[in-house]
Order: sequence, then structure tokens, then C-alpha cells
Amino acid sequence: MLTQSFHRLTFPAPICWLALGLGLAISTIGAASRSEAAEIERRPFGKTRDGAPVDEYILRSGSQEVRILTLGATLRAWTAPDKSGKMADVLLGFDDVAGYESADNQYFGCTVGRVCNRIGGARFDLEGKHYQLINNDGPNQLHGGNGRALCRVIWQAAEQASIPDIAAVKFSYTSPAGEEGYPGELKASVTYALAADGKLTLTYSAITDAATPVNLTNHAYFNLAGAGAPTILDHELKLMADQYTPVDSTLIPTGELAAVAGTALDFNAATAIGAWIDQVSGPPTIGYDHNYALRATDGKVRQVAVVRHPGTGRVLEVHTDQPGLQFYSGNFLKDQPGKGGKTYAHRSAFCLEAQHFPNSVNEPRFPSIILRPGETYTQTTIYWLK
Ligand code: GLA
Repeated sequence: MLTQSFHRLTFPAPICWLALGLGLAISTIGAASRSEAAEIERRPFGKTRDGAPVDEYILRSGSQEVRILTLGATLRAWTAPDKSGKMADVLLGFDDVAGYESADNQYFGCTVGRVCNRIGGARFDLEGKHYQLINNDGPNQLHGGNGRALCRVIWQAAEQASIPDIAAVKFSYTSPAGEEGYPGELKASVTYALAADGKLTLTYSAITDAATPVNLTNHAYFNLAGAGAPTILDHELKLMADQYTPVDSTLIPTGELAAVAGTALDFNAATAIGAWIDQVSGPPTIGYDHNYALRATDGKVRQVAVVRHPGTGRVLEVHTDQPGLQFYSGNFLKDQPGKGGKTYAHRSAFCLEAQHFPNSVNEPRFPSIILRPGETYTQTTIYWLK
């Protein structure tokens, strides 16, 4: 349903290229038809319990539609056709802000940081100083902390002028020095760009005024049969990695890299997610919840995973420039309420979170996640839904 502060942007090609060249912020342009041009719509989504307004941006291109909240720069919905043209929303999420603020929200679709995944002992040393963070996952910190983690704050949105069939919005947030215990004021952004061919590109950037760890990711939960379908164990996964990072009893990497060959973690050949999941369903994990060490890249984006749902024919490709990919099989979903009265069952979604390795801040053998003044953190991940 459309609400009061609704507006629509369309970007006919010549004007877009002109705008790009001039670096203009476009507010209303032209009237290209929907089939020819991407469009962006903004709707008020509600208020946080502190009274802060949350907006939703709807990006449309071709037959694709994604919805992103300013709360946590959260990817809330992605509606796309299957092989027979039937539309479905393939992302788990909630219908209202209260859902996102509830204990049922397991980071659904949000931008995770300042440091995603786990930091052992919720502490680290940097440039001669000791930093003690909040532990919110046993002794460890998970996904950037609590109330002011990047997934819980309001980001500023700016619609981007773009090429004709791409709808793009940039979300920015300035995290003050000391927020969630991290040093340095961090200016972070993530731009979501949706193309008519189903390619959703997430481009992250961050700068700081003091050295700080930074590791950003998106925590989208996919079910290619449509969010609310009972399982993802029938989805076939191909994950191009030869190694993973083994962990201790609290899911902190030991620092070694181990081969996936001959184990239940080897998805180099496309295999149903459920085929061997029982073999990874004892402690420390209760299903797939593993960081894969992707094959080396010289900073270039490469394809790292393909997931196919045989029933609908939907395919999701993941491309990234990151060294790691956390594959999580929705083990903590617990028959909880989601969008449109649907129920999200145990293992009814998967996440493929592109990032640096867990606990990198404490593990010198892993690629560094320290960002220093004068440097720019960048990260590009593409989810391509076909
Ligand atoms: C990540 C972690 C999991 C779990 C989910 C959120 O994927 O690795 O252990 O915490 O986030 O529930």
C-alpha cells in the first residue's frame, strides 16, 4: 500500500549519464516507462521503540524488486520470478520495525559490523591499547555488539543516479569513536544496486580517524523456494573453496586452515545442503556454520558460490572480493513468525556471508582487518538471482 511520502524516480539513459558526469543528486527525473527503466520508491516503514523514523527503499528493475530499510541498512525483501514466471520473496524478514527489534531477529538481512562474526574473548589489542568489548555470544562478541552495532542503527539513505536499468541507493552511517567499544570514528557506507538481470551489487566503503578493526557483511537469509518454505536442505550448493577455518568449542578459529576434501564441508561439486548435514550437527556446530577460506584473489571479484533450488529452478550466485565466506544453514531458526504470517522453521534459510575470517583481529595468521587513517576499506559482494 502506498503511503503519504511516496515518490518515484526513473532514470532515462541520457539524463543519467549526464547526472553521473556532473555528480548531481537527482530528485525527480523524466518519465521512462517501468519496463525500460529502474525506479526507486521511498516509504515510511515505522518507528523504532526510541521513536526514530525508519524508511524503506524499494528498488525495482525489470521483474526484480528489493526492499531495504534504513534500520541496519537491512535487505528486507527480494521478489523475483522463478523459471515459470511465478513471483516469490526469497528473503526472511519482518513486516514491521517491532519484528526487527525483537529477539526473533537473527540479523535478518542486515549490514553487520563494525566487526561481523566472532571476536574471541570479546577483546583485542591494537597499537598498544587493550579493548574490551561486550560479549554477547558466550565469552565472545558476535556481529558487532549490542544496541549500537551497525545492524541496529539508522543509516542515512541517498538515491544514486545510475545507468538505465540499475536502481541504486547508498546508505551511510557515522559510528562515533568508542561506540560499542571500538576505537576511531568510522564513516561507513553500503550501496545496493539492483539490475534488471537480477544482479544485486553491494559495495561497501569505510574510513576512520584512528586505527580500528573493520569487517562488514550482509546477513541475508535466503530460501529460493520463497521465504517460509519449510527447508533449504533440498537446495544444491556449489561453494568454490578448498579450505575452511577449524574452530574451538566456542566457534573461534584455531588459526589453522584445513582441507575440505573428503569432509562434509566439501561443496566443490554441487551437492544438496542436506546431504551430509548430520555430520556437522554435533558440537561445536549444529549444522553448517563454517567460514570457508576462498581461493586467493588479487582483490578481484570472483564467483564463490552457486545455490540452486531444483523445484523452482531459481539460482543464486554469489560473487565477492572477500577472502572468506560464512556458510550458515539457519540452525537457530526456531519456528518463528515472519513476513506475511509465514513461519520460519529450523533450517528454512541459508546465509552466505562474504567477509574476512572470524577473529582476524586476534589472529596474525589471517589477513588483517585493521583500517587506519588515510586508508579506505572497500568490499564488493554480488548476489545474482536467476
Ligand atoms: C552467523 C553465525 C551463527 C549465528 C548467525 C546468527 O552466521 O556464524 O553462529 O550466530 O550468525 O544467528
